[in-house]
Amino acid sequence: MKKMIRPNSMTRILGIGLALLLSFSSSLFAQDQPEADPAAGKTLFNTYCAACHHLDRRMTGPALRGVGDKFEREWLHAWIKNSQALIKSGDEEAVRIWEEYKPAVMTPFPQLSEQDLDDIIAYTMEVEEEPAATDVAATGAAGSGGSSSGINGDIVLGALILVFGVLVVMLFLVNKTLRKIAEANGVEVKTPEKTKPLWRAFVQNQFLVIVTVILLLLGSAYYAFGYMMQIGVDQGYEPVQPIHFSHKIHAGDNGIDCKYCHSSARTSQTSGIPSLNVCMNCHQSIPEVSESTATAEYSKEFYDGEIAKLYKAVGWDVSTQSYTGESQPVKWVRIHDLPDFVYFNHSQHVSVAGIACQVCHGEVQEMEILHQHAPLTMGWCIQCHQDTNVKMEGNEYYTKIHEELAKKYGVDQLTAAQMGGMECAKCHY
Ligand code: HEC
Ligand code: HEC
Ligand code: HEC
Ligand code: HEC
Ligand code: HEC
Ligand code: HEC
Repeated sequence: MKKMIRPNSMTRILGIGLALLLSFSSSLFAQDQPEADPAAGKTLFNTYCAACHHLDRRMTGPALRGVGDKFEREWLHAWIKNSQALIKSGDEEAVRIWEEYKPAVMTPFPQLSEQDLDDIIAYTMEVEEEPAATDVAATGAAGSGGSSSGINGDIVLGALILVFGVLVVMLFLVNKTLRKIAEANGVEVKTPEKTKPLWRAFVQNQFLVIVTVILLLLGSAYYAFGYMMQIGVDQGYEPVQPIHFSHKIHAGDNGIDCKYCHSSARTSQTSGIPSLNVCMNCHQSIPEVSESTATAEYSKEFYDGEIAKLYKAVGWDVSTQSYTGESQPVKWVRIHDLPDFVYFNHSQHVSVAGIACQVCHGEVQEMEILHQHAPLTMGWCIQCHQDTNVKMEGNEYYTKIHEELAKKYGVDQLTAAQMGGMECAKCHY
């Protein structure tokens, strides 16, 4: 054992030494150059430049990543301080850029120091890291969405298997040591088990049997639960959608009316999911979310990545601000789904009865990820029909029926149930 340890720790020490040496020399090396701070540059960039520039995308002005390689440092300083002056001076490069982007004029920034400018340029020279960040965020969110139970389940399952393995090894070792001790003490160990078939030895070992039964029970419970979640019989069903669409951001923070997107809720049986064209009414000019929209759980990069998915689906090219003609449908996962033999009509409830969406769907405007709020059972429908009075005001069609029925039941107000909301055929085809 000792022989094994020594060369190991030697290489370790060597490795650490080498790493220290490297980092030391590189920090020495860095000090030779004028110190530019990309972090400070990022802040400056977001303050002064982000309104017209993006690092990787053409906006009002060109994409700026790697701009330090494209132009001389002096030229860049002159340009940023006052691009129009440089253009008027007849500088070839400046005129060429102007020809491409005019009449958009870049603001002059005489207030920025040489240090500021170097910091900004250093920031634009940072290696692109966005796709990686988006990937991580995307998979992270996918994990934290619907499949979170899956991840936890996997961990539990893995842990169980590990425990089982350790137990087996321990049993084996204990057995071996006991035998050795017995041998050393000259005790004769009877080994009739050797001739026993394996299954019988297993059955006779109560401990192993119990462990196996527990494992089987846990395993099947895990899969049964997974199956139930999958077919969505559960209240709270919250699948991962192809595009992370936040009702909280849209209907909540930005106050967009539910019916702007679910326009058929008022007039037809179904509410429907909006087509991507509806999204593009706004998103043609909203390619990214503002810094303040990001939360601890979902970064700005993640949200921007989701809008990029929308663009990919409709075939919108941000750099040219035009459609490419290559689109692919987004398959939203359906959350609410009554069995086929049930008839439910949105307009009847939303327009005729005047029930707010939130009564049945919960506080949607606060949901980052939409989930099924109500149980959608028959009992749930009936309960409400018995509790809710039919809205009569401004509804000529009902006035007459109402008068007749009210007489029949001897009441002023009719519930939905009394209006026929209990009849099997109203809800079942
Ligand atoms: C009001 C919009 C606006 C702002 C703010 C702005 N720019 Fe520009 N920038 C432009 C436009 C437009 C062009 C293209 C040339 C033109 O039309 O003047 C440009 C061109 C450039 C170029 C030339 C890049 C190339 O590849 O051709 C650089 C470098 C540049 N800007 C840097 C900056 C920096 C750094 C800031 C922030 C300190 C900044 N700009 C702020 C609009 C802006
Ligand atoms: C900007 C468009 C938009 C607005 C505004 C909006 N939604 Fe949605 N809604 C969607 C999209 C897209 C989906 C599908 C993706 C999802 O389930 O998150 C959806 C899904 C739903 C679903 C689940 C559908 C299913 O599969 O069962 C319900 C319920 C819903 N919205 C209710 C509301 C309510 C209530 C409001 C208002 C508070 C609202 N929505 C506002 C776009 C919108
Ligand atoms: C009425 C305007 C409007 C419509 C319609 C609209 N959005 Fe948005 N969307 C916004 C605004 C505003 C933001 C937030 C911008 C911010 O925070 O800076 C946003 C943010 C987003 C985001 C990032 C945050 C998130 O929810 O994950 C995505 C993705 C998105 N929208 C997708 C869609 C899709 C898909 C549709 C169509 C079903 C759609 N949007 C329809 C205005 C709209
Ligand atoms: C009385 C309860 C109730 C009210 C009020 C209600 N919904 Fe629904 N909603 C349901 C039920 C039940 C389903 C499932 C329908 C199905 O599976 O056929 C559903 C399904 C949906 C769906 C999924 C797509 C569809 O049409 O099946 C969307 C989107 C939706 N509702 C949006 C809304 C919006 C937006 C409002 C408000 C304007 C609203 N709902 C009001 C009960 C309600
Ligand atoms: C939040 C309360 C509420 C819930 C939940 C609800 N309903 Fe209703 N429902 C009403 C009201 C109120 C009316 C009466 C509307 C009117 O004035 O015609 C109604 C009417 C109806 C009617 C028409 C009855 C008639 O006499 O023509 C049908 C069908 C119906 N509901 C089906 C359903 C089904 C199916 C569900 C469950 C999936 C459901 N409702 C859940 C409140 C509700
Ligand atoms: C207000 C609407 C409504 C009325 C009225 C109604 N049902 Fe239902 N019924 C439902 C809904 C919604 C479901 C689906 C429940 C689910 O998926 O869990 C259902 C499911 C059922 C089922 C299947 C049960 C199951 O477990 O799958 C039967 C059978 C049934 N109803 C019979 C009836 C009979 C008989 C009547 C008349 C006495 C009636 N229903 C009246 C809404 C209604």
